[in-house]
Amino acid sequence: MSDHPVIIKDENSGQSLELPIIRGTEGEPTLDINSLPASLGYFTYDPGFTATASCTSSITFIDGAKGILRYRGYPIEQLARQSNFLEVAYLLLHGDLPNCSEMDAFEHDITYHTMVHEKLNTFISGFHYDAHPMAMMAGVIGSLAAFYHDKMNMEDAEHRLLAAKRMVAKMPTIAAGCYRHHMGWPAAYPKNSFEYTERFLHMMFSVPTEGYEVSPVAARAMDLLFILHADHEQNASTSTVRLVGSTGANPYACVAAGISALWGPAHGGANESVLNMLDKIRDVSRVGKFVNRAKDRNDPFRLMGFGHRVYKNYDPRASIIRVAAHEVLAELGSNDPLMDLAMELEKIALEDDYFVAKKLYPNVDFYSGIIYKALGIPRSMFTVMFAIARTVGWVSQWLEQAETPTRIGRPRQVYNGTGERDYIDLKSR
Ligand code: ACO
Repeated sequence: MSDHPVIIKDENSGQSLELPIIRGTEGEPTLDINSLPASLGYFTYDPGFTATASCTSSITFIDGAKGILRYRGYPIEQLARQSNFLEVAYLLLHGDLPNCSEMDAFEHDITYHTMVHEKLNTFISGFHYDAHPMAMMAGVIGSLAAFYHDKMNMEDAEHRLLAAKRMVAKMPTIAAGCYRHHMGWPAAYPKNSFEYTERFLHMMFSVPTEGYEVSPVAARAMDLLFILHADHEQNASTSTVRLVGSTGANPYACVAAGISALWGPAHGGANESVLNMLDKIRDVSRVGKFVNRAKDRNDPFRLMGFGHRVYKNYDPRASIIRVAAHEVLAELGSNDPLMDLAMELEKIALEDDYFVAKKLYPNVDFYSGIIYKALGIPRSMFTVMFAIARTVGWVSQWLEQAETPTRIGRPRQVYNGTGERDYIDLKSR
């Protein structure tokens, strides 16, 4: 395709406008509509941002039609097979894979930022024991700003990177703290001798009264899920982080906002909802009934873990997780009937005309909950797991935004309320 501008003509005024095409290194050509309001007096209407690029970014590339996902150019399949979560974190934050000494230094930095200020635990213990951990996470991560406010100069690249590393390091400590508060267990401190996911599993499940051996199978499975969830370009929570970031708000506030956006069942909350749905379906014989409900326009029920705004093909992360789920269950000797139910549901939905026509495939969260369940992670913590991994993406995107000239994010609207009217005194109404 050539790079001639696209010319739009307003038949009302007879005026024309040339819209330049922006080309990234990959992906669809994009029209630059910045001049539209000033030139022709129009805004564009795009609810849900289905046709809108909100920024340029060099972090993650998705081709939804082909089912491609790459971090900094590396295919997700290769990273899932050959890398580990901390290396992927370095890649997303810095743009390239580290060499040995860079990796050692990064691992050291993350390890030595895993502890949280003791006073932070009072925020956690202030919650009721049955508070949803995502509500706790949003509050506690936001409160980090209060611990580092005098040491954060947003203009300083070193300070920004330090804040980013702090969040990657402290998320597992805080997440485990929220879980332990719910269980009524004393706080567990991060052990430097462990690797990232081992350390998290140890903080989650160790108790003072007896030893706890971290299962290498569980640690590796969690590491894989964290790699797959680490970033996904401008999804709802990342766009939230960027929108909040565009105001100049501190990174802890940005990530707290991202956590809140992730919680919704249409986004990261889907992994919890998938298992709730499988529970409701209960038996393979009832799958057809629920598939029919999902197709019924008058029924709000949707197949959770199915469909994606960008992927109109199999979500490449779902393909990897599907295989991993079988392997992890086999290695842990777990025989979860929900796995059979999920497979049957997937089979029936993928053969169904409705799902085929609408290109609805299983997404990353269809099988992730089954793996987390096998690892002993309680259901209410599933979205927290997602948040730990996605923090890397959020802070990478926040850093990129901070290094790029950015205007405050400020969409417009189509106003369809009442026209001007005069105020009438209360007694006269
Ligand atoms: N079950 C049944 N029908 C569905 C589903 C589903 N899971 N998803 C989409 N559809 C249908 C819609 O009813 C709509 O039909 P219509 O054209 O007849 O109105 C059509 O497919 C398009 O759906 P939209 O909601 O317009 O698609 P959108 O891109 O806005 O939403 C989303 C994507 C939110 C992921 C949606 O597919 C969904 O709700 N899925 C279930 C929740 C889920 O799994 N979310 C996790 C996403 S991945 C992630 O965030 C990590």
